[in-house]
Amino acid sequence: MSEDKPVTDIITLTRHVLEEQRKYKDASGDLTLLLNIIQLGCKFVSTNVRKARLLNLVGLAGGAQNVSGEDQKKLDIISNEIFVNALRSSGKVSVMVSEEEEAAIIVEEGLKGKYCVVFDPLDGSSNIDAGVNVGTIFGIYRVLEDSSGNISDVLRPGREMVVAGYCMYGSSANMVISLGNGVNGYTLDNGIGEFILTHPNIKIPPRGKIYSVNEGNSKYWDEVCTEYFHSLKFPPEGKSSYSARYIGSMVADVHRTLLYGGIFAYPSDKKSKNGKLRILYECFPMAFLVEQAGGKAITGTKRVLDVVPESIHSRCPIFLGSKEDVEDVERLYQKHA
Ligand code: AHG
Ligand code: MN
Ligand code: MN
Ligand code: MN
Repeated sequence: MSEDKPVTDIITLTRHVLEEQRKYKDASGDLTLLLNIIQLGCKFVSTNVRKARLLNLVGLAGGAQNVSGEDQKKLDIISNEIFVNALRSSGKVSVMVSEEEEAAIIVEEGLKGKYCVVFDPLDGSSNIDAGVNVGTIFGIYRVLEDSSGNISDVLRPGREMVVAGYCMYGSSANMVISLGNGVNGYTLDNGIGEFILTHPNIKIPPRGKIYSVNEGNSKYWDEVCTEYFHSLKFPPEGKSSYSARYIGSMVADVHRTLLYGGIFAYPSDKKSKNGKLRILYECFPMAFLVEQAGGKAITGTKRVLDVVPESIHSRCPIFLGSKEDVEDVERLYQKHA
């Protein structure tokens, strides 16, 4: 399509998902409807994030902490309620896990559906008051055969997810999603309220020039991290150093890594033996997307998507990004094993 021709054949996320649904002749359309509900949730959170300062929605929610021991922001709570209510009312979900809910939510009979949704309603919320990009991260499992929908439907390896995605709220709302065959990116057109395909078939470069890690933890790092990140800053003669970029919102750091390449890491260290990021609703969806885009995601010693979470808020270390960069880390862990 030439640049100056008006776009009269727009591909929305809904149209794209419907095209995907048509490939499965016995598809019920339930997943399409569920993804529409998730889109609604993201649009709703996006407007609240955009107006947060104007509506006094920034700051802490009266001192409450979530099960991970983090101070809950007002927008953490609002975003969580938006998704819980939207997902429950969809009639397509049996089990929900949210960062902001201590226990899994088992949907009442009559409203149960064949999917389980795990989500981080507002990722990067410590950045909200500074107006830095935040987002929502989600993953979807199908309920196991002859299960009525309970906790065992979500304490499973991430490789069994059927959908993974995030929506990043910044200068625009960017939805990046995979249904298991490739990754596509969509930008919200606020005028028509639709996510428009803007980044078809995202592929991560095989190697990058950027590393993204919180260097404030480096005194607690294991020897592999110390050696690896040092090698990026002090490369052998004739090789250039990597650039450091760290936003502190996983959704923004991973989005940049997907598009530009390089490596994002939240390693385990002496202070946090499993790292900080939660397996179900941060590590799994991001690992799923990165692998679908041709990259890799490891805990250091194993594939993230093969991890089986012990509980719904369990954490694991993660190194994700360009295949060759992550393999450099993998080789170092093997060498030090
Ligand atoms: P959340 O806001 O959902 O609790 O997630 C915050 C996470 C993640 O977004 C980011 O990568 C990480 O915390 C940053 O942690 P540090 O501030 O310790 O680097
Ligand atoms: Mn949090
Ligand atoms: Mn998060
Ligand atoms: Mn969060």
